[in-house]
This record gives sequence, C-alpha cells and structure tokens, in this order.
Amino acid sequence: MAVAEFIPSSSSFTKTTTLYDSSQLSQYVSTHKPPLTLRRTHYAKICCSVTSNEVQAPVAKQSNDSIKKTECFGVFCLTYDLKAEEETSSWKKMINVSVSGAAGMISNHLLFKLASGAVFGQDQPIALKLLGSERSIQALEGVAMELEDSLFPLLREVSIGIDPYEVFQDAEWALLIGAKPRGPGMERAALLDINGQIFAEQGKALNAVASRNVKVIVVGNPCNTNALICLKNAPDIPAKNFHALTRLDENRAKCQLALKAGVFYDKVSNMTIWGNHSTTQVPDFLNAKINGFPVKEVIRDIKWLEEGFTEKVQKRGGVLIQKWGRSSAASTAVSVVDAIRSLVTPTPEGDWFSTGVYTNGNPYGIGEDIVFSMPCRSKGDGDYELVKDVIFDDYLQSRIKKSEDELLAEKKCVAHLTGEGIAVCDLPGDTMLPGEM
Ligand code: LMR
Repeated sequence: MAVAEFIPSSSSFTKTTTLYDSSQLSQYVSTHKPPLTLRRTHYAKICCSVTSNEVQAPVAKQSNDSIKKTECFGVFCLTYDLKAEEETSSWKKMINVSVSGAAGMISNHLLFKLASGAVFGQDQPIALKLLGSERSIQALEGVAMELEDSLFPLLREVSIGIDPYEVFQDAEWALLIGAKPRGPGMERAALLDINGQIFAEQGKALNAVASRNVKVIVVGNPCNTNALICLKNAPDIPAKNFHALTRLDENRAKCQLALKAGVFYDKVSNMTIWGNHSTTQVPDFLNAKINGFPVKEVIRDIKWLEEGFTEKVQKRGGVLIQKWGRSSAASTAVSVVDAIRSLVTPTPEGDWFSTGVYTNGNPYGIGEDIVFSMPCRSKGDGDYELVKDVIFDDYLQSRIKKSEDELLAEKKCVAHLTGEGIAVCDLPGDTMLPGEM
C-alpha cells in the first residue's frame, strides 16, 4: 500500500500529521475542500503555467509519485531525477530555500539570483518554496511562471503557498522578507506588534517543519526584533542560526567611505555595522580599513566621520524612499545575496562582515538576549564566529549603547510575543527605521 504523509492546513497553525494512502488522500481532499482562495495551499507543491493534464511526459509512476502529481504541475514536476542526468552528476544535493514575501519587490530581484546559481554556486541545484498571502497568490503564480520561463538549469522545484507550515517544510534556508510597512499614523509599537505576530507564527512553523539546522535571514522590518521574536518561537532551532539583515547598511557604509577617500569600494574592508537596523545603527569607522589602513589615517575629517558619514548611512534608506517612493528593493536583494554568500564561502583572511545575530555569549559586553549587528567571520559552512580583535573608543561605545538601549526597549514591547510576559512599550523618542524620517 502506498503511503504518503499528508498534512492538512490549519488556520490556527496547530499541526496534526496523519498518514493516508493514496485513495484516502483523494477522499480527504474531496471532502475537506477549503474555500477557493485557500485551496491552492493544499495543492501548492508546484504552481506553474502548465496544468497537470497538459503534461505529455513522462508518465507518472504509481505510488508516492502519483500523489506528487496531484499536487504539482508544470515544468518543475518533470525533472527531479538528478542522478539520471549525466551533466548533473557532479552537482551537490538539492537545497530547499523558503522565501516569504515572495511576490514583493525584493524577492523579485532575489529569486532570480538564487535560481541562477549566483548565490549558492553553479553546482548547487535548488528548490524554491515561496510564501505569499491570500492577496498575493495570483502574483505569486506570476512569479512562478517567470521562473519557469527563465529556464534556469539549477532550479529544480518551485512551490507556492500561503501556509508557512507547508512552505517551510524541510527548509534549509528561510529568507523572511514579507512584513507590513508602517502605514501613515501608525505607532511604532503597533508596527512591532503587527509584524511581530507574523514572525512569531513563522518561528513556530520553522520550529515544526524546517530542517533542524535551517539558517534564517530576517529582512522584514523591524528586522532585529522580528528575528528575536522568530528565534524565541523556534526553541528547537539553534538561536545562532537567526540573522537580521544589516548587510545593506554595511554595503552603504563601504560606498560612502570609498566615495570620500576617492577609491573604488572594493578597497574598503573590515566594515562593521553595530546594533539595530534603524537610525541608531553604528557604522564603525574606527575598525574599518581603506586599502588596509585604518580609515582615520586615510580620512582625517573626524567631524565628517562622526556626523556626515554616520548619519548618511543611518538615513540612507529614508532618502531612497523619498527618491523612489518606496523602500529599497534591488540593493536589499543584493545584500541578501552577500549575506548568504558570506556564510557559505570562507571569509577572506583578516576581513569580516556584519550581520545581526543573537547576543548571548558575545565578547563585547553588549546586553544578552537581543539580536544585534556585530562583526563575524565564517569558514563557509553556513556558521560564523564573532570577531574578537576589534577596538573601541568612547565615541563608539556610547553610540553602541544607544542602539543597545533601543533594542532592549523594543524587546520589552514584544514580551507578549517572546513568551516573556506582558509587553511594556516605552520606546526612545528618536527610534526610527532607516525609512522613517
Ligand atoms: C532600508 O534600509 O532601505 C529599509 O530598511 C528602509 C525601510 O524602512 O523600509
């Protein structure tokens, strides 16, 4: 008897797993049809432009495969057997990458880079599992169709859905991009609460169904505290595996230093962003280098470094919103690529990168139990270690403290979402996302 594991969706996200054989499965599906808008998630394994009855070949095998065929259609259903194809014999085992907010602008840049092999390498086949909302499901199908039409050799599966418990199944990477932007008149505390709920739910889903070593990169703002909420709701996944994206800030800082020094930006190294992805973030010009020399030896204008440079980096996101009328998307996607590549390739000798990570055990005296951007190095195995050989002066210490205070206050605001009691929200007045000015 063919047996498949079939996991019914649940709006409350409480998960029950039942084993069905194939006839029970079709009976289950016909008697438990969800409303039309939700039905997609039950069959959401693969969604492309070609429906299953249009597929000519190969003929589906019975057993588990036939169940798979009822869940998927389109070109991605046809090419799973990597071992059977000579040109793929040197490829690695396929990885599962889940992306939330997959119909949004950032994802629209990011997904095609992931599928092209530019992120994980040209020998790394990939399955993309795309999470959207009921509202974005049509757009998500459009994304899947465009991925299909792009003929990426390494892209072996695309699935779409609106249930994180399905979309995060076996995820080895979870790129959490989807979040609500702050609307006019909305209090920051309300934003923390609304988005926090999304990330609490997604943390629970990751905890239930993702790979036990899934690496999570939180992009949706306020990303540090969202990452904290997510990891608190995923106690079975190492807290170390959760990142808040501050790589965009690092890239922005490198660009500004390069401009001022009159060098190309590849000459800027050892760039740390400390703290929150907000206007309290600290671009560290004390430890950064230009052409291997301390920045202060190359740029002697300390007032510019402390004020002009620092503020430019802190507020770059906001200036971009004024120009574009929306948040940065392409450069954010590029920085997600950079963030992943920094974890899957060894860090060049002597250099480091910035990422927002869990502070427990940090050597800098930063308060425990928050997600804080700090300097890291990686051996290229997806893991990282904090850099120890950094120096501090009074200016840097005091700026770091301000960002730390902000994150500790944000944490109190979301205590109801991290399992730490009743939320008390008393945020510093100047607490802002880079996009808020
Ligand atoms: C950015 O840094 O560009 C964004 O995080 C800005 C924002 O607030 O959306």
